[in-house]
Amino acid sequence: MKQDQSCDILRQLIPLIPALLLSLVIAAKAYGQDLVVRFDHQVHNEEYDISCEYCHYYAERSEQAGVPSLYDCLGCHQVVKGTTDERRFEIRKLEHHRLFKQNVIWTRVNDLPDFVYFSHQSHTLKEMECEECHGEVANIKAPNPAGKIKDLTMQWCMDCHVRGHEVKSQAEIIKGSTECHSCHK
Ligand code: HEC
Ligand code: HEC
Ligand code: HEC
Ligand code: HEC
Ligand code: HEC
Repeated sequence: MKQDQSCDILRQLIPLIPALLLSLVIAAKAYGQDLVVRFDHQVHNEEYDISCEYCHYYAERSEQAGVPSLYDCLGCHQVVKGTTDERRFEIRKLEHHRLFKQNVIWTRVNDLPDFVYFSHQSHTLKEMECEECHGEVANIKAPNPAGKIKDLTMQWCMDCHVRGHEVKSQAEIIKGSTECHSCHK
């Protein structure tokens, strides 16, 4: 009698096997993959006033400004779960990515050719605001990419290097170099 019952249960489970296998395959595929995630500058910068350097933490220390990793995002989002259904849904995805050891990748919008040398630090330490080059970032909503420099050409760099930039705290205008080797090492 008992044996019959457990056989019945097993028989009922048989139709579920394909679904089970399918989810295993999906999980295995997702494991370790890199993903593009939704990121909204407006929510973070305008609504919540998080500073640019909080996430792009190399901008004043190094050549690259850097983009945060999933680990950095979760530093906040383990606590910040979202105030609306839509936001909770988007934020929950971040936890899933961690579970599957996925990392987030970003859609690169500004990319100079390798033969050009550029350093964030040389500019930001001279009190140049991010917005001077990247435009208004704080009011860009996802999925629109933020911070695209409109005219990323040699002429654009040169124009400012010749015109110069005012360092407000010292009331002084400094110019950039126009020598080829400054930007082409
Ligand atoms: C300093 C804390 C902080 C960090 C770091 C942070 N966030 Fe947020 N995030 C917030 C806050 C605050 C909200 C607004 C929550 C709300 O109002 O519901 C938010 C909202 C969101 C939302 C929901 C809004 C929307 O667009 O649907 C997503 C998605 C999100 N963050 C993704 C990210 C990602 C991806 C990263 C890492 C690149 C990140 N966050 C890093 C604080 C942070
Ligand atoms: C909470 C984290 C966070 C904050 C705060 C933040 N950013 Fe970002 N930023 C990101 C992420 C993540 C990306 C990549 C977005 C993507 O892939 O869609 C990004 C992309 C960018 C880019 C484009 C990078 C490229 O590929 O060239 C620029 C420029 C930028 N941010 C500037 C700023 C400025 C200026 C501020 C302050 C007003 C700011 N960010 C504040 C997380 C942040
Ligand atoms: C003098 C102009 C200028 C200023 C000021 C500036 N940037 Fe950039 N930024 C650039 C250029 C040019 C690139 C492309 C660099 C490359 O391709 O190597 C870039 C690239 C980036 C990227 C892409 C990732 C990286 O590191 O290359 C991020 C993020 C970024 N900037 C954020 C910022 C933030 C945040 C600030 C303010 C703290 C800032 N930038 C100030 C010109 C500027
Ligand atoms: C908004 C104005 C502005 C823009 C745009 C700008 N620069 Fe500059 N840059 C400066 C100024 C001013 C200095 C001089 C800083 C100093 O004297 O410390 C400088 C310095 C430099 C230096 C010398 C750094 C060093 O440590 O010797 C390099 C290299 C450079 N810029 C490359 C670039 C490139 C490449 C671009 C374009 C992709 C660019 N800059 C765009 C204003 C600008
Ligand atoms: C302030 C920085 C800066 C200085 C100084 C500079 N360049 Fe450039 N140069 C750039 C940037 C940025 C690019 C890439 C522009 C692009 O992709 O459109 C570039 C591109 C070039 C190219 C490739 C052009 C092309 O159409 O692909 C040549 C050649 C060049 N530079 C030569 C020079 C020479 C010669 C000098 C000295 C007279 C010089 N550069 C000084 C920033 C600079």
